[in-house]
Amino acid sequence: MTTLLGVQSKPKLGQEAFDQLRELIYAKCGISFSDSKKYLLESRLAKRVDARGLKNFDDYLYFLNYDAQKESEITYLLNNIVTNETSFFRDAIQLKGFDQGVVPKIIEAKKKSMNRRLKIWSAASSTGEEPYTLAMMLLDLGLATDGWSVEITGSDISDNVLRSAKAATYEQYSLRNATPQQLLKYFTQKEKAYTLKPEVARLVRFKKINLMNSFETRLVKDNDVIFCRNVLIYFDDASKKKAVGNMYDSLAKGGYLFIGFSESLHDITRLFKPVRFCGTMVYQKI
Ligand SMILES: C[S@@+](CC[C@H](N)C(=O)[O-])C[C@H]1O[C@@H](n2cnc3c(N)ncnc32)[C@H](O)[C@@H]1O
Repeated sequence: MTTLLGVQSKPKLGQEAFDQLRELIYAKCGISFSDSKKYLLESRLAKRVDARGLKNFDDYLYFLNYDAQKESEITYLLNNIVTNETSFFRDAIQLKGFDQGVVPKIIEAKKKSMNRRLKIWSAASSTGEEPYTLAMMLLDLGLATDGWSVEITGSDISDNVLRSAKAATYEQYSLRNATPQQLLKYFTQKEKAYTLKPEVARLVRFKKINLMNSFETRLVKDNDVIFCRNVLIYFDDASKKKAVGNMYDSLAKGGYLFIGFSESLHDITRLFKPVRFCGTMVYQKI
């Protein structure tokens, strides 16, 4: 916004506009912004208000609620306010619980029933590092090639991160936890860019799914394992209950749910039994 003196001043987010904005965000994706996050929203969105040619945040809210382009603006908003931090092989202890605990347990049970299909969902997968990590681990176990059908779904609410995930090319920083052997085995390096080899990429399909929306979460059914790490932390209890309930419905009977280290299902649901595998806590659908 330009003042009478021609000075460029950034739009300020007043309390009332902040309340309306956070209500809208909460309704769309379940993320709750506390009072202390007002400045964060202001700094992330002030340029956008300008770029839209709007005078202030009140006009921006009007746009978000009534403009013909409101849906695409809401998509832009969600793309730009959520935290997408992730990396390959994040939280090694949990991954050990997956490939040395949960997967062998599932395989043993499935062998008895002659069912040789493994379905895994990385919900809130951001730029794809998590589902691709799981794909590499299953390849290492020989599962993806040993007569088993492996289906991994990566999903997120943000189109931007899904676009990057599908491109499957990463900078070294994303791969800081990968070993030189893993880099060599599963990536092709060109200067500073690492592209996943097709045998990994082909195991993962990406979809846009809002964890708050049961119509969308129902698109991925009968999963043996769901990873939903480092997103519940942004939700209040009501949103956590909704997301966890939706994932419960998308798990096969006896399926497993991994949540982030700093996250808990305490007071959220009693539909899961906590079980320990290789030093990590996993929730099993009862
Ligand atoms: C911090 S990243 C976590 C990535 C990965 N799971 C990990 O642990 O490394 C959180 C992701 O949750 C996504 N997200 C936030 N709200 C969501 C919702 N309601 N439905 C689906 N994804 C959501 C964000 O877009 C973001 O990519």
